[in-house]
Amino acid sequence: MRPYPARTQYAGKITAGHIGTVVALNGWVATRRDLGGLIFIDLRDHTGIVQLVFSPQYLPELMERASELRSEFVIAVSGHVRRRENPNHHLPTGEIEIYVDELVILNRSDVPPFEIGHRETINEELRLKYRYLDLRDPELQRIMRLRNQVYQVTHHYFSEQGFVEIETPMLVRSTPEGARDYIVPSRVHPGSVYALPQSPQIYKQLLMVAGFDRYMQIAKCMRDEDLRADRQPEFTQLDLEMSFVEQEDVLQMVEGYLARLWKEVKGVELPLPLRRMTYREAMSRFGSDKPDTRFGLELQELNDLVSDTEFAVFRSALESNGSITGINFVGGASYSRKQIDELTEHAKRYGAKGLVWLKVTSDDMEGSAAKFLSQTHKAALKERMGAAAGDMLLIVADAWNTAHTVCGALRLEVARREKMIPKHIDDLLYIVDFPMFESIDPETGMPVPAHHPFTSYKREDEHMLESTPLAVRANAYDLVINGYELASGSIRIHDRDTQAKVFKLIGLDEEEARKKFGFLLDAFRYGAPPHGGMAPGIDRLIMILAGTDNIRDVVAFPKTMRASSLMDEAPSPVADDQLKVLGLQIRQSS
Ligand code: AMO
Repeated sequence: MRPYPARTQYAGKITAGHIGTVVALNGWVATRRDLGGLIFIDLRDHTGIVQLVFSPQYLPELMERASELRSEFVIAVSGHVRRRENPNHHLPTGEIEIYVDELVILNRSDVPPFEIGHRETINEELRLKYRYLDLRDPELQRIMRLRNQVYQVTHHYFSEQGFVEIETPMLVRSTPEGARDYIVPSRVHPGSVYALPQSPQIYKQLLMVAGFDRYMQIAKCMRDEDLRADRQPEFTQLDLEMSFVEQEDVLQMVEGYLARLWKEVKGVELPLPLRRMTYREAMSRFGSDKPDTRFGLELQELNDLVSDTEFAVFRSALESNGSITGINFVGGASYSRKQIDELTEHAKRYGAKGLVWLKVTSDDMEGSAAKFLSQTHKAALKERMGAAAGDMLLIVADAWNTAHTVCGALRLEVARREKMIPKHIDDLLYIVDFPMFESIDPETGMPVPAHHPFTSYKREDEHMLESTPLAVRANAYDLVINGYELASGSIRIHDRDTQAKVFKLIGLDEEEARKKFGFLLDAFRYGAPPHGGMAPGIDRLIMILAGTDNIRDVVAFPKTMRASSLMDEAPSPVADDQLKVLGLQIRQSS
């Protein structure tokens, strides 16, 4: 027999409908108030809290034990549900309280390092050190349960669509996602290492060669890279791959999934198909390959308006085939010099040499470059940018990519400062037609691939591979939600000749290619089907669905920005004998 009252209800679920009944609850002491004899306890479980009452008038013999109760004690109680004299309308259980008949203290707690339920006021490092207490917070309980719901929907949807879930190994040969690997030394093969997978990329392609047709996996990926608010060193991907597909097939499969998720998790109908925007359009209009299109402030090309200018900053951009690009910060003329300096600093962080700003007044313009521009130029700029008195034009003249990237960053910065981003809508779109190469390596003269090297290019661009590689478009696509890159994917190369051609083009000689990906190339000799796929980042997806911009809020046991776990203190120094077994020696850096 259980030595304490077995639960009949969850705390957050007791309502006026239970008045007059006897209930039994198990949970934690959230708060305790001692009102001169009368003791009130809020009992918490994962569904919420409910008020318990210990009254000397009701059961005097319970009072002594009740007075021992402190925060986070684990208790079991049974009692009568009564209507509260002073209802608390902010609480789902606020109409009732429970007069306790039986109390069992199942466990005591030290004084917790912080009070549960006020996480926003508590230092994150402290919360991460005691993560198991942080996770008792209703907000993190909500997010983890939402994450679970996403997993359920994911498995249902992809199973219905004929996908097979297959696990791929954790100890692998290096995978090609471009970050630094975490490596695991082998004891059996001294001097050799495994890598932890940056993604299951090669394995999922091998599964297509193996004939599985449609594969999915909720996969852990490990990357040793600089961390940001939306990056963890280990994170989760919904990894997908399909055979005999074109780009549109993959995009439709994934948008069907997103529509299902939004409906089941948020109760929102996503209008399908999602927008498809080319990379070029995204860069031209928003200065980003992950544009947040929930607000305007779009970029404008200004070259043609000032082609005859004497203004040196514009002249030099024009003469070097660059771009003069700007945004109209509506109402920005009220910005002080200090605020404009901050925007200039922001622009410089993204590679600008400087920022031209022009405040529009009722009959002229004021600002850094106003005196260098003719009235005709000013009028043309004003018209193109739809500006009126009180606005401020922010203009960058530089190489096309720099000018656009900087204006894209300014656009976001202005929108953030001025709270122009409507947070209540979700903005989902696909970016397609990414370039195959991102730049030319100045040392080798070889094009630098923009994606992993199995990404195929558009057949119609093949003739430019050698002559103008930067103009070649890949069959690569991203999913962008609210300005986050949520997923990437591509149609892969599936024949050896094309793969060899691409390796050669990017300067990966045959020997090196064999060394790195020989097993994939071998597999391609035995009937690889056309295939392609995508991988949404699950953590980022949960961030969007949960409405947080901190990735650590959606991972049960996250790492800090310095990739450590404050709770278990990983990484930790390793003992000498462990190193010896692995044939390793640590060199102290001087
Ligand atoms: P990619 O490297 O673009 O593609 O990753 C896909 C998605 O994974 C998420 N992501 C991350 N999330 C949190 N922390 C990180 N450090 C992190 N890095 C990536 C992002 C990203 O869009 N194999 C290819 C996919 C494919 O081609 O099918 C890949 O891994 O949401």
